[in-house]
Amino acid sequence: MKALEGIKILDFTHVQSGPTCTQLLAWVGADVIKVERPGVGDATRGQLRDVPDVDSLYFTMLNHNKRSIELNTKEETGKEVLIRLIKTCDVLVENFAPGALDRMGFSWERVHEINPRMIMASIKGFGPGVFEDCKVYENVAQCAGGAASTTGMLGDVPLVTGAQIGDSGTGLHLAFGIVTALFHREHSGKGQRVTAAMQDGVLNLCRVKLRDQQRLAHGPLTEYSQYGEDIPFGEAAPRAGNDSGGGQPGRILKCKGGEDDPDSYTYFITQAAVWKNVCDVIGKPEWKEDENYATPKARLPRLNEVFDAIEEWTMTKTKFEVMEICNPLNIPVGPILSMKELAEDQSLRDTGTVVEVDHPTRGKYVSVGNPVKLSDSPSEVKRSPLLGEHTDEILSEVLNYTEEEIKEIHASGAVGE
Ligand code: COA
Repeated sequence: MKALEGIKILDFTHVQSGPTCTQLLAWVGADVIKVERPGVGDATRGQLRDVPDVDSLYFTMLNHNKRSIELNTKEETGKEVLIRLIKTCDVLVENFAPGALDRMGFSWERVHEINPRMIMASIKGFGPGVFEDCKVYENVAQCAGGAASTTGMLGDVPLVTGAQIGDSGTGLHLAFGIVTALFHREHSGKGQRVTAAMQDGVLNLCRVKLRDQQRLAHGPLTEYSQYGEDIPFGEAAPRAGNDSGGGQPGRILKCKGGEDDPDSYTYFITQAAVWKNVCDVIGKPEWKEDENYATPKARLPRLNEVFDAIEEWTMTKTKFEVMEICNPLNIPVGPILSMKELAEDQSLRDTGTVVEVDHPTRGKYVSVGNPVKLSDSPSEVKRSPLLGEHTDEILSEVLNYTEEEIKEIHASGAVGE
């Protein structure tokens, strides 16, 4: 049995943050009913299209396993259908701009009144405070949540990361909140309000940087390269380049094959516990006992020299050879993998983390499947729905409208053409 089988989600989400959340719930068996504006749908259906007139990869990769109903929820008949959906479903998930659902007439108080067992979950850019009314997108959240100020090279501009920690990260947080509220409902019998702000979600993912902010009050951050290079620290946790955040010096180093592969690099951590192994591997056995290199403290002012020597060695090996040699010696390393390599990775395909899905109008496409594996509740990744593909099915099977009533709903224009 699928873990969330029997749970119905009224999915009012769009773009990336909300759809990430409802996709996770759909993967583990929830019946996710995506409500979309008639004839328009989720804006991402048409965004960055690679094939003309076909749902984009943006949409198809974020809306697996869902059903789609077209419904104008600002129009009278549409509102009636929405009320029936609220009465029938367990969870309403939305990530509209602040105030949009209230303007539509469906505040938390109203939803709770219609169905006291319903859990209502929302993503907004900011929590209550000065910015609460702002619309927010991924990179805004990365900047406002502390990721950008702590990412990038020291003295250079702040950087955003390719990982969608604002959108997908907050979707993950919301999914956790929903499952928790569902568990709580088992005891209380009541639904509750679940909210996740993108700024808060990003800050949660940046918590080690808030750790460093507080450590700064007690002196410089000795594991940052900046310390070894004698560059003074300011008042805020600085950008740390590719330094490792865990207290053990680490860098990205070039490997063999760089001309053919722009990602021919490895991450290399000079973990104190395996320092002697590092010395042997790179051909510097004399550093094992040399007081200038033997201890982590002695190495701190010499990290550039140490990593230059390691890089001289890594440049004689491919990133995969570095892995093969260092792993048995417990030296933490990792190849920099390109999206091409990940898309083609056989192990990721075998575990279902990378999946190939067939779609009626676009054909086969590659997507990311559920990264969380449950031993008794496997995830099945199905294609995303076409706009309004399940409108009649939902009206009849889920909401029990008669054939005659469905005709009337169509005639009202509430579900589009
Ligand atoms: N029927 C009728 N109207 C519908 C509808 C439906 N099925 N679905 C949506 N609408 C309406 C909304 O009610 C809203 O109307 P209003 O502005 O008149 O109140 C309108 O469509 C637009 O929705 P909105 O969410 O405001 O879209 P937007 O394009 O203005 O803003 C975001 C987009 C992403 C910036 C905004 O939704 C947002 O800030 N969301 C929260 C944070 C977030 O998730 N951001 C990350 C996105 S990946």
